[in-house]
Amino acid sequence: MGRTARIGDPCDPEIADMTARLDGRIALITGASSGIGAACAERFEREGARIAGLDIAPQPEGSPCEAWREVDVRDEQAVSQAITSLAESLGRIDILVNAAGVAGGGPAHELDQDEWDRVVDINLKGTFLVSKHVLARMVAQGSGNLVHLASVEGLMGLEGALPYNASKGGVVLMTRNMAIDYGRLGIRVNCICPGFIETPMTGLLREPGLEPIQKAITEAHMLGRMGQPQEVAAAAAFLASDDASFVSGHALVVDGGFTAGHRFGTSEVLASLAPEG
Ligand SMILES: NC(=O)c1ccc[n+]([C@@H]2O[C@H](COP(=O)([O-])OP(=O)(O)OC[C@H]3O[C@@H](n4cnc5c(N)ncnc54)[C@H](O)[C@@H]3O)[C@@H](O)[C@H]2O)c1
Repeated sequence: MGRTARIGDPCDPEIADMTARLDGRIALITGASSGIGAACAERFEREGARIAGLDIAPQPEGSPCEAWREVDVRDEQAVSQAITSLAESLGRIDILVNAAGVAGGGPAHELDQDEWDRVVDINLKGTFLVSKHVLARMVAQGSGNLVHLASVEGLMGLEGALPYNASKGGVVLMTRNMAIDYGRLGIRVNCICPGFIETPMTGLLREPGLEPIQKAITEAHMLGRMGQPQEVAAAAAFLASDDASFVSGHALVVDGGFTAGHRFGTSEVLASLAPEG
């Protein structure tokens, strides 16, 4: 017997995949080895796209990517060469998803410059460098579509994640700037701001001893759970498809209500104080 879906359940990929909105499109996905990037590769392939992957890590077994380059997104020469050879091997690049990224941080007075550089260079400069070399091709072809992975931490502060938050705030503004610069050239640029998603990046939260922090973070999502990478991939597929043909310069929050506001249990307390009858 089928399970009854509840509001807030992760989307069922079988139900969500009613269309093939990316039929014939060529998508380059960075960070495609893991987590959200890997989920985007699977989702985009099911929606009819052909996929190229770019990651510092090797291509995982079973990945749907037709072509793969092991590249550090901070290395402009390697990025440029990889994009040239991937575009030649697949014919063109219609969609870029920038999902390569790292977590990291600490309070300012304890933060090494090396750690600042690592996080900001991968998350912000890497997104810029890959976009730069893909955009040059999209400008020449007169069409294209960029989806950057920002974060709710690019919209609001979060304890202990200074360079991460700064880098993701930069990605949100870079999205808007690129949308301005390239809109008249037929190129849409958007970003996604996920809440906490269950991927290797958030694996630390699942370590023994960190249950109270994981519980507090989980409860800060109004749906009462963390997200799944497939739920972010579904939003990326929407933004990359013609369903979002008039959407550009947007930061799409996919956060289970994390940024909706605060919840202190006031309603429950007030209900318990209300006179009976
Ligand atoms: N997981 C979350 O809770 C969450 C929330 C908001 C935003 N995001 C963002 O989504 C994106 C994907 O995150 P994820 O959770 O899937 O993480 P993940 O760790 O599962 O995957 C990140 C991928 O980026 C690759 N990568 C790291 N450094 C690289 C480099 N220098 N060059 C090329 N590739 C590199 C890794 O090899 C990995 O495959 C990131 O930009 C992340 O900041 C994640």
